[in-house]
Amino acid sequence: MKNLNGKNAIVTGASRGIGVHIVDSLTKNGVNVIGIARSIEGLKETAKIVANNQGEFSYLEFDLSQALKISELVNKFKDVDFLINNAGIEIYKEFENYQLNEIENIIKVNLIGPMELTRQLIPKIKENKGHIVNIASLAGKKGVVFNGVYSATKSGLILWSDALDQELKQSGVGVTSVCPGYIAETGMFNDGGYPPPPLLGKSNPRKVSKAVIDAIVKNKKEIIVNSGPIRPLIAIGQIFPRLSDTIINWFGVPELSKKRAFESKGGNKT
Ligand SMILES: NC(=O)c1ccc[n+]([C@@H]2O[C@H](COP(=O)([O-])OP(=O)(O)OC[C@H]3O[C@@H](n4cnc5c(N)ncnc54)[C@H](OP(=O)(O)O)[C@@H]3O)[C@@H](O)[C@H]2O)c1
Repeated sequence: MKNLNGKNAIVTGASRGIGVHIVDSLTKNGVNVIGIARSIEGLKETAKIVANNQGEFSYLEFDLSQALKISELVNKFKDVDFLINNAGIEIYKEFENYQLNEIENIIKVNLIGPMELTRQLIPKIKENKGHIVNIASLAGKKGVVFNGVYSATKSGLILWSDALDQELKQSGVGVTSVCPGYIAETGMFNDGGYPPPPLLGKSNPRKVSKAVIDAIVKNKKEIIVNSGPIRPLIAIGQIFPRLSDTIINWFGVPELSKKRAFESKGGNKT
């Protein structure tokens, strides 16, 4: 879709972090956006940030873990061209120490919520030959220790996007997964307060919001947002999974995850 001006989008996770940048980019391109999140305060802040942009921004308070209530949310939408499933959560800790409700909540917010919202919006998006963008993660390409439930949901998002893109192709609807690495300045990684492993680096959140625009305009299948060339490593991991463990270890990813898991247990930052 070449011209975004006057189109209508839903963006989940619009109250803070990367979602604010996605709303900013879309509204700067003339897209009218409805933002979804639990925090009304955060959504109001986003509204202030994008107030002078060309597209309009409005918002609705909603908890995406409540999949059974999604029909009430969807009933409030009229015309929908684009759905950006951006909301997501993670918990760093040893897997054996997770509570069942924590596992369930991550899967609900990161996977079931986006799937159910998308399922119910597909008829509207089909009418406009629109686009669905799922914000996944590089953690969906290679398992991240102490964050395995998150990795599982992001991996799930990537393959679901792939299948759905093929399924909807004839209807003119495109589906993209965007896979960011470590994002600086804002968002869940930045909030953790640790520097990224130097060899992997970090990207700014505008790269993610630009990826969302590219996804729609160029009908991309998958976009990786990372400061270094990561695709060869992912390919190596497909052929030699143990070798990719060694490489990721050498990059310092498990070490960083271990620090984050330790800190979430109440330990001090090291
Ligand atoms: N930051 C990174 O380095 C990075 C890297 C790779 C991928 N990602 C992905 O990028 C996306 C955005 O992450 P971020 O870094 O911007 O995270 P963030 O700053 O923690 O923001 C998460 C957003 O999701 C919303 N959210 C969380 N639980 C929700 C729920 N139950 N119902 C509705 N909304 C909910 C939050 O709003 P409320 O709390 O107000 O509900 C917030 O707006 C996520 O999918 C994340 O996995 C981030």
